[in-house]
Amino acid sequence: MYSLGLIGFPVNQSKSPQIHQHFLSSLQLEGQYNLYEVEEVDLESQLNQLIDHQLTGFNVTIPYKEKIIPLIDDLDQTTKSLKSVNTVKIEGTKLVGYNTDGVGYVESLRQGYPDFYQSLNQQSILILGAGGAAKGIYYTLQNERPYKLDIANRSVNRAEHLTCDYTNSHALSLLDAEAKLNDYDLIIQTTSVGMEPNTSHKIIKLNQLKENTIVSDIIYKPKYTNFLKEAENRGARILFGESMLWYQAAKAFEIWTGYKVTHLVPIKEGD
Ligand code: ATR
Repeated sequence: MYSLGLIGFPVNQSKSPQIHQHFLSSLQLEGQYNLYEVEEVDLESQLNQLIDHQLTGFNVTIPYKEKIIPLIDDLDQTTKSLKSVNTVKIEGTKLVGYNTDGVGYVESLRQGYPDFYQSLNQQSILILGAGGAAKGIYYTLQNERPYKLDIANRSVNRAEHLTCDYTNSHALSLLDAEAKLNDYDLIIQTTSVGMEPNTSHKIIKLNQLKENTIVSDIIYKPKYTNFLKEAENRGARILFGESMLWYQAAKAFEIWTGYKVTHLVPIKEGD
């Protein structure tokens, strides 16, 4: 019996219960996934309760991905440099922290566009945004040795902070990125711009986008962001944020249970 859950505030809009129930039932495993809406002052006592109740593990969402770190006993190597935890496994009385966002994104890319993934060392990639999600994706992609991996952000110094250690990475302003968009084969939108309820907003203009570029948006509400719609109208191939959501969940599920989930949801199709 697997006892799983999510800690955050708020948590009621989360799709995670649905996703993990799907994993449990498709593997014919018994288990449950509960939502824990926790005030910051109660975070530590809530974690102790979860240990006492012998939970298998839990996900962590806004606003605790960083705040939980001092309360975690052990972090895996990538999570240490990311300083952000989205998955915790309970091992006896020990909390072990992981971040599955980057791995989830790269797996969604591999599943959605296998040929592109195979040739990553020849591809030029642009990440839009330099926040927590961008960081996870950046570090995981960096390990795959793409030809070029640039980051454009509203505050360029935040992007510089990430790219400064790598010769194949440069930091750009959003305006500069807009002007040289046709340099890139994959564009990954990681900011909250375009998310419900402000769905008409777009992070950059796509006038310079070249045909056949893969454009992905990690927003999944709405599924079809304006950014993706415009990219598709301009001849791009697209990758939905929902796909990353499922693969980061699959990785967390594997950490908790040891089971690799092979049957997820359609990736490229619309609703
Ligand atoms: P997350 O952990 O979800 O990535 P975050 O760390 O708050 O969230 O990062 C949000 C990202 O969205 C940042 O890259 C932020 O740009 P800044 O670093 O310049 O703040 C970007 N972002 C948010 N709102 C934006 C807006 N209106 N225009 C441009 N970028 C925006």
